[in-house]
Amino acid sequence: MTPNLHRPEPILRHTARPVDRSVPPQAAAARLRDGETLLVTDLYTTGEAILARLDALLRPPPHDAPFDARQAHRRAHRAAVLRLLAPIEDHRLALADACPIGFLDELYPDHASFVLPFAQVQELFGAWNRYKEGVHLKVLGHSLFPFYGTYVPTRVTHLELFGTWLHQYKGPRDRAIDVGTGCGVLALMLCRAGVQRVLATDINPNAVESVSRELGRLSPRPPIDLFCGDLLGPDPAPADLIVFNPPWIRGEAEGLLDEALYFTGDLFGRFFDQAFDRLAADGRVVLVFSNILELVQPDVPHPILAELARGRLRLVQKLSRRVEPSAAPDGTRRRTRERVEIWELARA
Ligand SMILES: C[S@@+](CC[C@H](N)C(=O)[O-])C[C@H]1O[C@@H](n2cnc3c(N)ncnc32)[C@H](O)[C@@H]1O
Repeated sequence: MTPNLHRPEPILRHTARPVDRSVPPQAAAARLRDGETLLVTDLYTTGEAILARLDALLRPPPHDAPFDARQAHRRAHRAAVLRLLAPIEDHRLALADACPIGFLDELYPDHASFVLPFAQVQELFGAWNRYKEGVHLKVLGHSLFPFYGTYVPTRVTHLELFGTWLHQYKGPRDRAIDVGTGCGVLALMLCRAGVQRVLATDINPNAVESVSRELGRLSPRPPIDLFCGDLLGPDPAPADLIVFNPPWIRGEAEGLLDEALYFTGDLFGRFFDQAFDRLAADGRVVLVFSNILELVQPDVPHPILAELARGRLRLVQKLSRRVEPSAAPDGTRRRTRERVEIWELARA
């Protein structure tokens, strides 16, 4: 196991009150909402029922409410959810109806018995299933087996659009950098398109571990090198293609996967500085982006337009495709103005 992998922090001491199916889920949920910490002691389904009631108690604002209001709700909801705990004994979830979660052995070599927030156990369980069963990605024609804590795309329109762009790209393909590789999907697409060598980077060690395991599984092994760290990494070698599917929304990263979704500070400024230094003379910077930023945060300056205004890179082309509307809880399709985009930039 790679050292320093992210994992839910084990709780070794706590004063949580026990709760089981004899307590009405509604009452337990209200206690969590009011700040109490509870430990599920009998069944996985008890924990699920309590969290379902908590969701009903802490209803989110409407989906068209201001972004800040939705963020504030998200934070309060998460804090209450994390007050429900689950026991781990001997690397097993100590609840009668629990299924195995292999990551518990792997991520906690230093502790056998402890407690974790129930929601994080659910996340570990979901991640374990994805890791064992794989996630089929049509753009690759095969499944990936993402490691715990790795961003996996749930929608694919942006990947398909990147595939369309890659198909019509006629330039050099000796070396590419996939910045923020996540589960490695863009790096693998680049290899399939004949790029000779790809450097895949990510600030999240779990993502780098994930792609490293993927490379060990694939035969022949794709020509991907890995770097765990910020943006393009220290290697000054020029690249024909510098690809980045960045976080699309400005916000503070609080959870493990938030760095995949929210950007802070000057992430884009730093990215463009590095990309400009490393881009081969006839190379391309390719950003997978979305108009979601303009839709939900119209006051935030557009980071790609801001770079273009500096004049050192020019827009070669921009592809755009409508995103399939997601299903609302009642099964109807929500109308969306969201579009995904491919921005192809070259030296001015
Ligand atoms: C939206 S996800 C894209 C993942 C993958 N490339 C894809 O298309 O599915 C953004 C990724 O960028 C990574 N990331 C965020 N900030 C980063 C940084 N400063 N340096 C390197 N990677 C970063 C995140 O950890 C995450 O894996």
